[in-house]
Amino acid sequence: MASLVDRFGRSFPYLRLSLTEACNYRCSYCLPDGYHPDGRPTFLVLEEIQRLVRAFAALGMSKIRLTGGEPSVRKDLVPIIAAVSAVPGVRKVAITTNGTLLPRHIRAWREAGLTALNVSLDTLDPERFRTFTGHDRFAEVTEGVEMALGLGFDSVKLNAVLLRGRNDDELPAWFDYLRERDVAIRFIELMRTGDNREFFERHHLRADALEEQLVEAGWRLRARAPDAGPAREYSHPGYRGRIGVIAPYSKDFCAGCNRLRVTARGDLRLCLFGDFGIGLRELLQSDDDFDALVARISTQLGLKAAGHGLHQGETGLTPHLASIGG
Ligand code: 5AD
Ligand code: SF4
Repeated sequence: MASLVDRFGRSFPYLRLSLTEACNYRCSYCLPDGYHPDGRPTFLVLEEIQRLVRAFAALGMSKIRLTGGEPSVRKDLVPIIAAVSAVPGVRKVAITTNGTLLPRHIRAWREAGLTALNVSLDTLDPERFRTFTGHDRFAEVTEGVEMALGLGFDSVKLNAVLLRGRNDDELPAWFDYLRERDVAIRFIELMRTGDNREFFERHHLRADALEEQLVEAGWRLRARAPDAGPAREYSHPGYRGRIGVIAPYSKDFCAGCNRLRVTARGDLRLCLFGDFGIGLRELLQSDDDFDALVARISTQLGLKAAGHGLHQGETGLTPHLASIGG
C-alpha cells in the first residue's frame, strides 16, 4: 500500500480534520470576541468527510482527530464519528473538545467509535475558567472528564495553554488532580497567531521553568515512543496521571511532526503555520474522483516544508487556531 512520507522521511499516519470553524467559547488567545461567521460558511458534509477519510486511509493514515473550532457544535457529530471509524484502516478516532457538552454526549460518542478524548482545560479554578473562556462551565467540563474516565477510552488527555500571570501558579493543583486519575495533562506553550499578537507578547511563557519544577518534584522524562507526537512526557511513581509539555518554539519540535491537517472547508494544510492550503473539496463530490484525490494528497505532501517560520514571527495563514484546528 502507498504511504504518506515526505522528502524529509517523516510519515503521516495521523490526520487532524476540522469539522467547523464555529466555537461556543471566547478564549482570550483564540476568539476573544467569540466566533463570527464570515458570510455563510459551509463546512464539509458527512459524505465529503467519508470520501476524504477513505483517501487518507488508503495512503496509510490510521489515526484521525476531529477538531474545530468546537467539533461538538456539529449536530451530526455522532454519525460522523461512526462513519469515520468504519473506514477500513482507521484504528484510532480522537476528538479535541472544549468539553462543555461532554456530560450530554460522551457516551454516544464512545458508542459511535470514539477511542480517545482530549479536553481543553486551561485552569483548575472555576472562576479563572469563567474569565478565560467567557463561560461558567467548569463543573460540566470536569464532570464530563470524570464520566469519560469510566468509559474505557485508550486515552483521556487535557490541554492547558500556559499563560504568564494567569495560570502559571497551578502546578500543585495539577499534581493533586493527577494523583489518582489516569489522565495526561499537556501544557502547551501559547502560539502566536495572526490575531493574538498583543496577548501573545503579554502572556507567552516558555515551558522550561515548568519542566525544571517537574524534575525537582521527582517527575521523569519518559522515552519517546516512535510514533509519539510533539509532546515531551513526564511520569512519576507516586501519580497515576502523566504530564506532557508541548513547546512549539523548541528546536526539535517540527522534526517529530507526524500530522497533516484538513480544514473544515476541505483545504489540506501541510503545517499549522504554513502559508498555503490545497483545495481538496472539488474532489470530494463523487466517488469517481477517488484516485485523483489520492494522487493530489500524495503529490502535495512532497511540498511539506521542513519546519514552520514561527521563530521569524511568521504566522502563515492562521488568524487563530479555531480557523484550522489546534
Ligand atoms: N496557542 C496554543 N494553544 C492554542 N489553542 C488554541 N489557540 C492556541 C494558541 N494560540 C489550544 C486550545 C486547545 C487546542 C485545540 O488548541 O486551548 O486546547
Ligand atoms: Fe474555542 Fe478552542 Fe478557540 Fe477556545 S481555543 S475559542 S475552545 S476553538
